[in-house]
Amino acid sequence: MVVLTDKFGRGISDLRISITDRCNYKCVYCRTGNEGALYGDLAFADYLRMARVLVGMGITKVRLTGGEPLLRNGVVEFVRELAKLRPQGLKPPSQSRDSSAAEAAPLQGPADQGPTDQRPNDQRINYMKQVPRRAAPRNNNTGEVAEDRLDIALTTNGHLLADLAQPLKDAGLTRVTVSMDAVDPDRFARITRVPGGYDHVLAGIRAARRAGLWPLKVNCVLMRGFNEDQVIPFGMFAREEGVVVRFIEFMPLEEDRVWSPETVVRLEEILARMAEYRPLVEIPHARSETARRYRFDDGVGEIGIIAPVSHPFCGHCSRIRITSDGKIRTCLFSVWDHDLYAEMRRGASDEELAEFIRGVVMKKEERHHIGEPDFVPASRTMVHIGG
Ligand code: GTP
Ligand code: 5AD
Repeated sequence: MVVLTDKFGRGISDLRISITDRCNYKCVYCRTGNEGALYGDLAFADYLRMARVLVGMGITKVRLTGGEPLLRNGVVEFVRELAKLRPQGLKPPSQSRDSSAAEAAPLQGPADQGPTDQRPNDQRINYMKQVPRRAAPRNNNTGEVAEDRLDIALTTNGHLLADLAQPLKDAGLTRVTVSMDAVDPDRFARITRVPGGYDHVLAGIRAARRAGLWPLKVNCVLMRGFNEDQVIPFGMFAREEGVVVRFIEFMPLEEDRVWSPETVVRLEEILARMAEYRPLVEIPHARSETARRYRFDDGVGEIGIIAPVSHPFCGHCSRIRITSDGKIRTCLFSVWDHDLYAEMRRGASDEELAEFIRGVVMKKEERHHIGEPDFVPASRTMVHIGG
């Protein structure tokens, strides 16, 4: 099988498909709160065809994003159809047992008898005050489906996840990543600008664990003045809830243009803040992975840091994106996109689509220019790209 490669020799194995640019949250670092959806979306059959062609070209991971992907009716059925592409694909190289969240155990299976198993979906813990009494159980069973030929993942804000986690798992979803920027309910509401969301998201995370959507990652974008004091509480959260918490440096992709270098909470500061609670020890990560990975010094709980601003990882980027309206973006910071859907509409065959994709991938940008004098803002903001 021909593996997609760009002109810098980077293999393209990860596809992100945004299935809507609508979102039910108005996070301060992402949206103005005034804009709604800007772009249309396609029938699932169209995304499915795009995914099928791309899996045939060597894609091993498909991540569904938005906006908020769970707002889209029919997402479970779409995952079921995507899962049918598995026999056609390659085995994902990054899904080996040792590249996963080794310390965080799924809420099911014989080795999983910890106290979190019994916790109701809506039980709050005050992470701002309370050091966990007992860490999440250790377990060598990563819960990953080793036989999967195609990793199907979803990035969601978690608001609607509680009821959808099990159906998504049954449909063939491998794992979810939940965006969550505070473990304090009031702060959470201030950031998302939606009241009462915290309990929904917590319930979603627990339902996803229970369903075996694994490894379960929680993404926290840190923005100075809003949530940098959440670092230690999130460390406790990772250990108590048995999830991988990943801190993300804020990138200039927001609608409001509030980014400045000073708003970014950088990798070194995150490590220093966490060290006041417990030191972190770096562990290996896959080259194309966005996150540097760490474990606490006692081996319990995994933390990731995604540092595109202070430690760019463009040199190993393996991603391309399809927007909700069917355009290919070769970089988060692209200033143009490539209309794959237009090719489909004009009646292109699968081979012609593949040819178009190969040409587009050759134009993939070498790197982003965040913080440099020649930085040009991306032609779309994050919510309209898909993260
Ligand atoms: P895994 O497959 O679990 O490693 O997920 P992921 O990290 O690829 O995806 P996720 O949706 O969780 O993204 C995490 C963060 O990394 C988000 O803030 C993304 O915008 C950022 N990110 C993902 N891909 C890129 C990229 O190509 N360039 C940059 N600069 N940031 C990226
Ligand atoms: N910088 C960094 N990460 C961001 N995300 C959204 N906007 C930004 C930004 N400007 C995160 C979301 C989600 C992931 C896909 O991207 O919180 O977790």
